[in-house]
Amino acid sequence: MRAAVYSSAGPAAEVIAVQEVDAPVAGAGEVLVRVAAVGLNPVDVKIRAAGHDFGAIRYTERPGWDVAGTVVAVGPGVAGWSEGDAVFALARFPEAAHTLAELVALPVSDIAAAPRAWSAAQAGAAPLAALTAWQALDAAGVGADDGARVLVLGGAGGVGHLVVQLAKARGAHVIATAGPAKQELVTAWGADEMVDHHDDDALAAIEPVDAVIVTVSDTLPPRGAIREGTAVVTITGYSAAQEAELRAGGADPVRRILVAANGPQLAEISALADAGRLTVHLDSEYRLSDLAAAQERVETGHVTGKVVVLVDPRD
Ligand SMILES: NC(=O)c1ccc[n+]([C@@H]2O[C@H](COP(=O)([O-])OP(=O)(O)OC[C@H]3O[C@@H](n4cnc5c(N)ncnc54)[C@H](OP(=O)(O)O)[C@@H]3O)[C@@H](O)[C@H]2O)c1
Repeated sequence: MRAAVYSSAGPAAEVIAVQEVDAPVAGAGEVLVRVAAVGLNPVDVKIRAAGHDFGAIRYTERPGWDVAGTVVAVGPGVAGWSEGDAVFALARFPEAAHTLAELVALPVSDIAAAPRAWSAAQAGAAPLAALTAWQALDAAGVGADDGARVLVLGGAGGVGHLVVQLAKARGAHVIATAGPAKQELVTAWGADEMVDHHDDDALAAIEPVDAVIVTVSDTLPPRGAIREGTAVVTITGYSAAQEAELRAGGADPVRRILVAANGPQLAEISALADAGRLTVHLDSEYRLSDLAAAQERVETGHVTGKVVVLVDPRD
């Protein structure tokens, strides 16, 4: 079968190739999936450029963590899944998963039924970003229908556009930041208030919130948004000095999360999608043979929604 392979660390156009490799088989507790679509994430390009592990995240020469596709075989001990099922997954993260290939073996603990309301491209694009959004809201204590005021720093990116929608689905009042060109889209995804992150006065005018979800690097929430007990959850991380500044302003807890694979949470995400309460905006679609261009698009940092790679044996 064909699969994406990195020859070494380095620029996308120089080190990415599509090669023939041995096909996997479904082991115990796994299903074998014919891959239709694979989402790309900033972590893919960071790992490729660096050529080594990032903390718990495994470097791999055979990339890919997101996936949507069709079950073609089930391994020993698997119940509840059968040939022909449409599934999606964040596979094995932060261990290596090798989803950028024609076939992949997936642990059943990581998979869920793909939303019927979404295209395969949307299902493949979503898992890492959607689970990050879900787990960030959980970490911030944003529960169902508790009417929380939630500030999303970065409401237009892969994770941010799903945080906005999932926070709305949990009954929150959502304030989101984005540049002027993207505000209409973020409003359509459900944001109640939009703030241009270039506008210091507008940022300073944000009133205290219950939770802040931070999806952009090196960006502190405006002081006025923090009160005693505001939960701040970052997916990009803060320095010790930045954390201390937030705590001095009353923020509690201040947490950084790393997304984890989780099939049952993906099943809840799938149900929201089928209920018409969650969509995935596709920034752009690429073929497997154009993986380098797809990664270069992610590398710009200006993606709106998600970049996805379509895996089609006819290409
Ligand atoms: N901890 C985890 O488990 C985890 C999981 C997923 C992602 N991440 C990390 O989280 C970050 C976001 O991931 P992603 O997939 O959402 O990235 P992404 O899709 O590449 O985000 C790009 C978006 O961010 C917007 N943006 C950039 N700076 C901004 C600012 N100061 N204020 C508001 N919006 C801004 C961009 O808008 P413009 O085009 O207008 O600049 C663009 O729409 C990355 O660093 C990624 O590595 C961490």
